[in-house]
Amino acid sequence: MTESNAPKGLEGVIAAETVLSYVNGTEGILEYLGIPIDQLATKSTFEEVAFLLWHKRLPKAAELKDFTAQLRAHYTLPTPVKELLQNIPPKTAPMHVLRTAVSYLASFDETPDDISPEGLREKGMRLVCQMPAIVAYFDRARKKLPLVDPDPDLNIAGNILYMINGEAPDETMARALDVCLILHADHGLNASTFTSRVICSTMSSVYGAVTGGIAALHGQLHGGANERVMYMLREIGSADNVTKYLDEAMATKKKIMGFGHRVYKTLDPRATFLKAFAKDLADSTGNHDLYELSTMVEEVMTARVGSKGIYPNVDFYSATTYKSIGIEIDMFTPMFAISRVTGWVGHILEQNEANRIMRPRAAYIGPHNAPYVPFDER
Ligand SMILES: CC(C)(COP(=O)(O)OP(=O)(O)OC[C@H]1O[C@@H](n2cnc3c(N)ncnc32)[C@H](O)[C@@H]1OP(=O)(O)O)[C@@H](O)C(=O)NCCC(=O)NCCS
Repeated sequence: MTESNAPKGLEGVIAAETVLSYVNGTEGILEYLGIPIDQLATKSTFEEVAFLLWHKRLPKAAELKDFTAQLRAHYTLPTPVKELLQNIPPKTAPMHVLRTAVSYLASFDETPDDISPEGLREKGMRLVCQMPAIVAYFDRARKKLPLVDPDPDLNIAGNILYMINGEAPDETMARALDVCLILHADHGLNASTFTSRVICSTMSSVYGAVTGGIAALHGQLHGGANERVMYMLREIGSADNVTKYLDEAMATKKKIMGFGHRVYKTLDPRATFLKAFAKDLADSTGNHDLYELSTMVEEVMTARVGSKGIYPNVDFYSATTYKSIGIEIDMFTPMFAISRVTGWVGHILEQNEANRIMRPRAAYIGPHNAPYVPFDER
C-alpha cells in the first residue's frame, strides 16, 4: 500500500482480535462465542448474553441467578442524574441525552477509572441497568408524565417497558424486546465498538469509552439508521408509492436506510430472524400494513440492487419490531445502545487483556514549506 491509497473507511483492515462475535459476510453468519445468533435469540435471555460476552462462556444456572440479582441491584439511578433528566430541554434527541447522562454517571462511581476486569464488569452492570432508566425517565419527563421508578422484580427488557409505559409489561412485548436486545448485543469491530476500543486503549475509563460508543452509534450510517427506516416508511406511505420513491431516491444517489452493510454482502442473519419475528408481532399488534410495506421495500430493493450485495440489515426490520412493541421512533437507537453496551464492555475487557494504544497514521497529502502569509496579504 502506498501512502496515499489507504482503504477508505478502513475497509478490510484488521485492527483487533476478538473471540466475542464472528461475522461472516459472505455466508451470512453471526455467532457470539461460537453460538449461532438464532440459537441465542430463541433460547437465551439478554442477561445471559451479557454474562456470555463479559465472561466468554455461558453461565451455570446458579451463576446466572447471582448475576441477575447483581444487575437488578444496579437499577436505581443516582438522584442527581434523575434530576438532570428532568431539566434537559424536552426537544433534545434521546441519544444526546443518553450520551450526556452516561458521561455524568462517572461522577457517582467511587472508582470511575478502575479498569481491572472486576471493575469493568461492575461498571458494565451499572451501565446496562442504568442506561434504560436514563432513557425511560427522560421520555416521561419530556412528556410531563410522573416518573416511574425501576422494578427489581423485572428483567431488563420488562423493566424498560414498565418504566416507559408506567404499567406492568405485556409478556410477549417484553420477550420481543429481550430478543431485540440479544440480536444487537455485539457485532465484530463495528464503528461504535471500534470507537470504544480506541478510547479504552489509552487506558481511559469505561465511562469515556461508552460515551464515545454512544456518539458513534447515533449516526445514521450506524445505529441511527433504525429511526430513519421508520421515517422513510412513513414518507413512502403506501404500497403504490414504493417503486416511485425508491427509484427517485436512488436516482439521486440517496442511501436507502436499513439496507447495505460493510461486511454482509448477503442477507444479514439478524435481519432474516427479525423479518419473521416482526411479521408475527406486527400481525398481533395491528401493524400488518407496516410489515407489508417493509416487505415491498425489500422486494424492490432486492430487484434493483441485490446483485450488488445490498440487502436489508438489522435496522430494517427492527424498525417494524420496535414500532409493534410500542416504542417511539426516537427511542429506537437508544434501545440499540442499551443492548450494544454489553458488546462495548466485552470488547473493552478484551482490549485491556492485551492492550497497546491504538495509534494509526494518516497519509499526509498536503503541501510542505508553505509560507506563513501575514493578515494584510491574505
Ligand atoms: C451500511 C453502509 C454505511 C455501508 O457503507 P459502505 O460499506 O461504505 O458502502 P458504500 O457506501 O461504499 O456503498 C457501496 C455501493 O453500494 C451502494 N449502497 C450501499 N448502501 C446503500 C443503500 N443503503 N442504498 C442505496 N445504495 C447503497 C452505494 O451507493 C455504492 O454504490 P456505487 O458503488 O455504485 O457507488 C451503507 O450501506 C449505508 O449507508 N446504508 C444505509 C444506512 C444503514 O442502514 N446503516 C446501518 C448499517 S447496519
